[in-house]
Amino acid sequence: MSTILIVTGSVRPNSVNKTVVRLVQDDLETRNAIEGNVADIAELNLPFYDAPTPPSADDYVIPHDTVKRWSELVTAADGVVFVVPEYNHSLSAVQKNAIDWLYKEWNDKLVAFVGYGWYEAKHSLAQFKEIGTVTKWKLGETTTGLQFMKDINPDGSLLDETAARGSIRATLDELVNSL
Ligand SMILES: Cc1cc2nc3c(=O)[nH]c(=O)nc-3n(C[C@H](O)[C@H](O)[C@H](O)COP(=O)(O)O)c2cc1C
Repeated sequence: MSTILIVTGSVRPNSVNKTVVRLVQDDLETRNAIEGNVADIAELNLPFYDAPTPPSADDYVIPHDTVKRWSELVTAADGVVFVVPEYNHSLSAVQKNAIDWLYKEWNDKLVAFVGYGWYEAKHSLAQFKEIGTVTKWKLGETTTGLQFMKDINPDGSLLDETAARGSIRATLDELVNSL
């Protein structure tokens, strides 16, 4: 059994993230020997980064129990799927903060992205690729960028469910085939 950690990217109560996370979960549930676990960024309740050293430092010690739990979740995962909104042409601050807390946990981790927004989350997804050059994620070629008013509505209801599920399937196929 392989474990895929699905990392949410919004703490808004009416977040579109919830719909997209459900699509990712649905897809993973159809696969053999794959378990999808959700790491809800709201429930993780991570503080803003306040450690005295960077996480890449040899003497880095995680200073909070909430972050230790986050570290354990990432360490235990065989792969990670970030569900990615776009705020001001960037990934959300809560998602970036969660990434910043860890370093060695990320190294060589298989990571995939499922984004959504007015521009198919293309700005956020480009930044994730840049971040991956530092965190040393193992990235595939395939990403999903769902577009508002085409694939999904801004209220989170689905417009083209077949296209949305198909794109997510292709992204997760590449991730799962790399396990
Ligand atoms: C502060 C802010 C900035 C935003 N900037 C963008 C943007 O640059 N690109 C975009 O496609 N959508 C942008 N949006 C719209 C979000 O894509 C939309 O609100 C989406 O539902 C956010 O994801 P969430 O519902 O999971 O929180 C922005 C929304 C907010 C609140």
